[in-house]
Amino acid sequence: MYTNIFDAHCHYDDEWYNEDRTETIESLPSKGVCGVVTNATDLENVKLVLQLAEKYPFVYGTVGIHPECLENLPTNYLNTVAEISQKEKIVAIGEIGLDYYWDIPKDAQMKVVKEQLALASDLDMPVVFHDREAHGDTMDLLRKYKPKGLLHCYSGSTEMLKEVLKLGMYISLGGVVTFKNARVPVEVAKEVPLDRLLLETDAPYLAPVPFRGKRNDSSLIPYIAEKIAEIRGISPQELIDITTDNAKRMYGI
Ligand code: NI
Repeated sequence: MYTNIFDAHCHYDDEWYNEDRTETIESLPSKGVCGVVTNATDLENVKLVLQLAEKYPFVYGTVGIHPECLENLPTNYLNTVAEISQKEKIVAIGEIGLDYYWDIPKDAQMKVVKEQLALASDLDMPVVFHDREAHGDTMDLLRKYKPKGLLHCYSGSTEMLKEVLKLGMYISLGGVVTFKNARVPVEVAKEVPLDRLLLETDAPYLAPVPFRGKRNDSSLIPYIAEKIAEIRGISPQELIDITTDNAKRMYGI
């Protein structure tokens, strides 16, 4: 069994856990999990994120507006994000970013992500950034705002990776690296310097093989670690230990 597992990005507020959220979270330490960062995506679910983070010592949270959650955003939302970000167990501004897969107006996405990047920089906090099919604009924003933090569920090329690293950011890889058709994530897993890599589940989504399509949770990180460790020629526990150190350093835990 592995120990010292840190899940750098997940969503334990998700309704998929409504039946057994407490049991699921409380079982994690006995499965080797030492830390998880559960991400808010709007001002509603951040309440549960905060509750979980305040209840469990190994659970940390983020606050931020996800690009898929722009509808009915109050005009003073940024004040609320800023206020919640100061709570002790809130470790980053996230999940923020750009999503060009779904049909969401780009100008609205840009406005909200820029405001949150500026806030993170004012507060000197890391961001958790979501980039789905928006690599070009994402890089423009990262160059301009130079946030510290994480490009989560990294889906860019190895070329883009070089620039992300140069800007000082970290990336995380999750279940996608175990998928049969994973080509680019495997390349990225080969290339990324080990001191810039974090492991994540994005639970409840993106469960690794052999659980693909099922509900994910942080106890499945070993399947991701085993795949990447094999690519890198180190032991899974060694990879887990390194990525856990990275996550704690990046989130300031
Ligand atoms: Ni996510």
